Amino acid sequence: MVNIAVLGYGTVGSGVVEVIRTNPDSINKKAGQEINVKYVLDLRDFPGDPVEKILVHDFDVILNDPDVKIVVEVMGGVEPAYTFVKKSLLAGKSVCTSNKELVAKHGPELLEIARTKELNFLFEASVGGGIPIIRPLNSSLTADEILEITGILNGTTNYILSKMSADGQEFDAALKKAQELGYAERNPEADVEGYDACRKIAILSSLAFGDHVDFEEIYTEGISKITAVDIAYAKKMNYAVKLLASSKREEDQYYAMVAPFLVPPTHPLFAVNDVFNAIFVKGNVLGDVMFYGSGAGKLPTASAVVSDVVDATKHLHRNIMSFWSSKKLGLTKVDKATRRFFVRIADASAGDPAKEPAGLAKVKAVFGEGELVRADGVTGEFGFVTQAMTEEAFHEKCGQIDGFLGRIRLL
Ligand code: HSE
Repeated sequence: MVNIAVLGYGTVGSGVVEVIRTNPDSINKKAGQEINVKYVLDLRDFPGDPVEKILVHDFDVILNDPDVKIVVEVMGGVEPAYTFVKKSLLAGKSVCTSNKELVAKHGPELLEIARTKELNFLFEASVGGGIPIIRPLNSSLTADEILEITGILNGTTNYILSKMSADGQEFDAALKKAQELGYAERNPEADVEGYDACRKIAILSSLAFGDHVDFEEIYTEGISKITAVDIAYAKKMNYAVKLLASSKREEDQYYAMVAPFLVPPTHPLFAVNDVFNAIFVKGNVLGDVMFYGSGAGKLPTASAVVSDVVDATKHLHRNIMSFWSSKKLGLTKVDKATRRFFVRIADASAGDPAKEPAGLAKVKAVFGEGELVRADGVTGEFGFVTQAMTEEAFHEKCGQIDGFLGRIRLL
């Protein structure tokens, strides 16, 4: 029997206990021995809950119990999670976590401690909820040089954008529902402003490229400026607005960014809706592969955490190698990246669909040839899709346009 302790009895923590109690026979068989939850740590009390008898409020009880071999950290946030995880590893306990903030910030250090002490620091649930992506990057896609990872990595924002597009729901109503369903972060700004996706692409990029990608150096833009009018233009063009987190390697240059994109129907990420996440990976010999599934929520995330507990149990005194070094990977500024852009331009003459908007000639003079877009029911402005150009050139040209209302990048 292997004893584990669960730190945090919130959405994911209670899910971990539920998953272990739902599928004990198959989990124990796959782990090779019985997995027993010996302690649950939380500041709160849970009267009447089955964990009441194993609930502790003091982390030292867990730390000082040599019978606890695996610590499951599902508290979220950097502190006190970092202190508890580091102490656990130093005390000879493997750690499984869903905490993307912790992994993005302290991953290399915690992996190094685990390596030195012949333990494991596992974090499958930190990216993509229930989708297996950390383990595939670490142990399946090892024949390839990874050239690109582009993903929908935040369930909350994908849920909001899908509801705005399919049901015409307002942003706030869709966010409220995502919170009720247990998808959103405690502070949903982390979802909406792209910070959560930023940490997740930093983790994936570090594993894919082998050196540490600092999340604070990733250009990050959220979906808070996306409006119903943007969605109307996207629908007219038969594109979908998606918050994408992407990293690319082009020869010896590495790019990473998080931003809303217009995704064409020909791309596999176009059809990824609601809380689902998907991660598209391009390898130099494999070509394209995509991982798809439930990206957030209690049981999908808990399923990934428990898969780590099974792996840690199978490798109790053997470190599962990871290719994430503490050497920092230099990122090239996104200004140098080339793409097409969709722009919205205010123009009082744009109401009559039979006539070309008066401002179009000026827009073409600045951006060159492109495609005029008019959305149903939208007046007083028009949309325009530029040719491919660098971000730097695009920003310089935007300054020359009167009535510039906004832009979305095209994938
Ligand atoms: N808030 C996150 C999301 C939870 O919406 O994707 C899963 O990491």
